[in-house]
Amino acid sequence: MPSDPTSPSPGLEAAAALLDWYAAMGVDVTLADRPFDRFDDSAKAKAAAESQAARRQSPQPDDRRPMPAVEFPSQGAPARPVVATGQTAQVPTEATVMQARAAAQSAKTLDELKDLLQAFDGCNLKLTAKNTVFADGNPASKLMLIGEAPGRDEDIEGRPFVGRSGQLLDRMLNAIGYSRSHNAYIANVIYWRPPGNRDPSDVEIAICRPFILRQIELIDPALIVFLGAQPAKALLGGEAVKQGINKLRGHWCDLEIGNKRFKALPTFHPAYLLRTPIKKREAWRDFLTAKVFLENGGMPPPA
Ligand code: URA
Repeated sequence: MPSDPTSPSPGLEAAAALLDWYAAMGVDVTLADRPFDRFDDSAKAKAAAESQAARRQSPQPDDRRPMPAVEFPSQGAPARPVVATGQTAQVPTEATVMQARAAAQSAKTLDELKDLLQAFDGCNLKLTAKNTVFADGNPASKLMLIGEAPGRDEDIEGRPFVGRSGQLLDRMLNAIGYSRSHNAYIANVIYWRPPGNRDPSDVEIAICRPFILRQIELIDPALIVFLGAQPAKALLGGEAVKQGINKLRGHWCDLEIGNKRFKALPTFHPAYLLRTPIKKREAWRDFLTAKVFLENGGMPPPA
């Protein structure tokens, strides 16, 4: 039977199906012309680390220093896959976190912090992201909102919360008389989109943490609203790490940075509210609590 000239060829159909499958798996950005074998790269990094460990006569003092909470990959020879940007990936180490801390603490202004962050190559998420998503809103705001990590839309635009969840966030802010163009400032704990929107690892959080802590110090907000459990856990540590957002939300927390104590209020992430609209009632209560707090001159409202 002659083939229908108006229908796509089987090759095209297969290619379209493959692209659909990639998109569903979170592979939605092209990084290079040729595929890169990361399994091979990790095997080489592991072999290099093992041979270096075998050569070592005795542990160095630094190797014995405990790093609570975060497990770093092998500190052997760094993996160096060349990617499309010409940058190279590094196996993060404790030293990477120290570099992040030194860079962040040296920033005297927000502009300096942004420049230092953009020049910082210690977080491998930067290799697969299109943009560094620093912040949006008015830096003079008393209200600072902190989310988790940029998604696809944020990576493309280079601004936090511009996708569907960001639009909901804008509506919630407007409902209490706040907006990013006027009196709210928005940032994330993680500055680069994790590939396929996966959860950031503990190491990635540890590397970004000094920058967001310094950003909070420089903004000096009267109130921080954590959007979801992840930013609350990443920044508060301690007991918060063990609790889910249903326990954390609506409860006042203190975030200590240096000698300063910042008032913080965790609430639901807007993406969760899009999936679970029944929770909007509690989030609305949290936003009203935030408004009363901010407009009472910073005094917590009566219980
Ligand atoms: N979710 C976040 O946590 N942050 C963003 O910027 C966008 C979505």
